[in-house]
Amino acid sequence: MKKTLSIETQINHNSYTPPEGFRSYAEPMYRGSTVLFKNLGELRARSWLSREGYSYGLHGTPTTYTLEAQLAAIEGGSHALLTPSGLSAISVVDLAFLKTGDDMLIPDDAYNPNQEMGRWLSRDFGISVRFYDPMVGAGIADLIQENTKLVWTEVPGSITMEVPDLPAISKAAHEKGVVVALDNTWSAGLVYDGFAHGADVIVQAVTKYQGGASDLLMGAVIVKEQALFEQVGMPHLRLGMGVNADDVARVLRSLPTMKLRFEKSGASSRIVADWLKGRPEVDKILHPAYPDCPGHEFYKRDFTGTGGLFSFLFDEKYTGEQIDRFIESLTLFGLGFSWGGTHSLAVPYAINERRIGWKLPHKHVVRLYIGLEDPQDLIADLEQAMQKM
Ligand SMILES: Cc1ncc(COP(=O)(O)O)c(C=O)c1O
Repeated sequence: MKKTLSIETQINHNSYTPPEGFRSYAEPMYRGSTVLFKNLGELRARSWLSREGYSYGLHGTPTTYTLEAQLAAIEGGSHALLTPSGLSAISVVDLAFLKTGDDMLIPDDAYNPNQEMGRWLSRDFGISVRFYDPMVGAGIADLIQENTKLVWTEVPGSITMEVPDLPAISKAAHEKGVVVALDNTWSAGLVYDGFAHGADVIVQAVTKYQGGASDLLMGAVIVKEQALFEQVGMPHLRLGMGVNADDVARVLRSLPTMKLRFEKSGASSRIVADWLKGRPEVDKILHPAYPDCPGHEFYKRDFTGTGGLFSFLFDEKYTGEQIDRFIESLTLFGLGFSWGGTHSLAVPYAINERRIGWKLPHKHVVRLYIGLEDPQDLIADLEQAMQKM
């Protein structure tokens, strides 16, 4: 056959089409910034937001749509939007529901960068932001003002693990037309039905259990109505919240085992927490499944299982230095942020002095994430570190 195109052109315009009919359990992975249209009519008819077609790689490929659909299904939502991190998912929600002059309420045990985003919006963007006691329940009604547009909730809260009465908060907020956002990362959407308990919009840090191997960052905003999808979709578009195709493929690979990993992590967390409870050095177990934890009654009412992230309080007589020595003596628990992977982690935190909702005299919290190791080995590690403390 006559060679009509030079090699440079040929290798850039690959004309090979593989035979049809290949089937496998692995989701195919599509990469692409440029998305090709068949003709000008199709290009001009594109929609940036619709999941019925494709417009530009930033806004979606078959790979990202597949993960969005899976994450929406886990929460019982209709749509999900992927973001480059859990924190960026939080910022999309803020920008979707707030403008200058509006007011937002954030629980004072929320993931601190969520609170920091609020402080920034309040300092530089003319949005008023107030922090509330996560155990406020229906009392949130007294905090809602004319200009309140968004109430954040986190179930349970970060670090100190209070379980709020989300149905009561949502009912009060909805009566005043206020949108309720939920950070549902602790349960990975598996053991807490955020929409059934009143959330309008749910955020997941996909970095955690969905990623599952501590090797990627991703977030998701999940809604259950077309109108809310459009509302969160616009800031998502405008901010250019794209995700990396390789990371999406990794999450799709991890997702089928997420429930097993989550259940193992949760069951092991109970074995470790039971052991800690029997130790004289330990005062309180801040694990939603334990009665010491504020809001345990809402855990019993609203959850169908447990995750592997919890905190505990040493007896007050232990100083910050002693607790640091305990943490640094651990050998199986890694010292680092995040959770939801296969490895156990431990981090000490000083109780935030700004907290309105903190009623105990303790100043230090230890947060543990229980991974997939044998819990008896983890207990032996905790025991030797307590001896060094
Ligand atoms: C409860 C919660 N929400 C959101 C995030 C943010 O996720 P990312 O690290 O992906 O930004 C985290 C991270 O630790 C978290 O613990």
